[in-house]
Amino acid sequence: MKLEHTSVLLNRCITVLSTSLENKEKPVLVDATLGLGGHSLALLEKFPNLQIIGIDRDKSAIDKASQRLSSHLDRITIFHAVYDQTPKLLDSLGISSVDGILFDLGTSSMQLDQSERGFSYAQSAPLDMRMDQSSGITAQEIIDSYSRGELIRIIRSYGEEKFAQRIVDNIIEARASGLIKSTSDLADLIKRSIPAPARRLGGNPAKRTFQALRIEVNQELAILERAIPACLERLNVGGRMVVMSFQSLEDKIVKNFFTQATESKTPLGLPIEIKALSAKFSLVFNGSQKASDAEILDNSRAKSVRLRAIERVAA
Ligand SMILES: C[S@@+](CC[C@H](N)C(=O)[O-])C[C@H]1O[C@@H](n2cnc3c(N)ncnc32)[C@H](O)[C@@H]1O
Repeated sequence: MKLEHTSVLLNRCITVLSTSLENKEKPVLVDATLGLGGHSLALLEKFPNLQIIGIDRDKSAIDKASQRLSSHLDRITIFHAVYDQTPKLLDSLGISSVDGILFDLGTSSMQLDQSERGFSYAQSAPLDMRMDQSSGITAQEIIDSYSRGELIRIIRSYGEEKFAQRIVDNIIEARASGLIKSTSDLADLIKRSIPAPARRLGGNPAKRTFQALRIEVNQELAILERAIPACLERLNVGGRMVVMSFQSLEDKIVKNFFTQATESKTPLGLPIEIKALSAKFSLVFNGSQKASDAEILDNSRAKSVRLRAIERVAA
């Protein structure tokens, strides 16, 4: 089993963040999703005065990152926390604002490869799926206790699964007899629930339901919705936030916040722009960037990445 993670769009992230970090005496950056520390390590090596605040909710990622970054521990402060706590963590360090914030969303390859964590439908394991195994409810508890309506809602909205109702009806029947106890029990049930012609399209039929459960277990979208605006408030003028999303629901949230933040609040129809109501942020480039074919060939995780970046232009 490999417990590694190849950082996605590493050079692109560094290039986009460089503008805010270079030529500063002591730049500060938040790596909100430290993972195995790949992005942090490259940034610490490139910017000798950079100070990083690294956050991850997964204790095993924190342990691995701490080892990997051991020669830079004087320049990185690592927190086992959820990233919507960023403002509180910065306050605890007496830092009011920072020059860069990086979000590399989703799970790391290490988490997917640790089959016992239950993220993968390819290996049989307990239905856990918690990024932080020290708290919160597991996928098993959701399967066992959510109502039919709640299950349909999450599988439909977080998994964008057309056959949510059929899958949930089968879950309700199977759980009554205690027949869903592992990722493979659930993956088999999903496969049986999807009509044969649809099963042949779009990859493993379990992918969408597993994504939905993982989002619900970890409250991924609600946390992202709290974190993006709170973190934008903590950027210095000239500071940049880079977000890499790996599925459309996250990317939509990021896009919406970035659009709102870059719009002037001057009422439409006024002949002049009111400076106090001008947008405080500007997009670094329009839309999102994808990985190159070469990077996708080298790292299949890069296939779905969408990178967005925003800069604070006014206090
Ligand atoms: C894609 S990996 C990051 C990889 C990292 N950039 C690297 O180069 O090694 C995403 C990490 O974010 C963490 N994570 C996801 N959601 C989080 C949240 N809400 N708060 C804190 N950490 C989170 C996961 O535990 C995982 O380790």
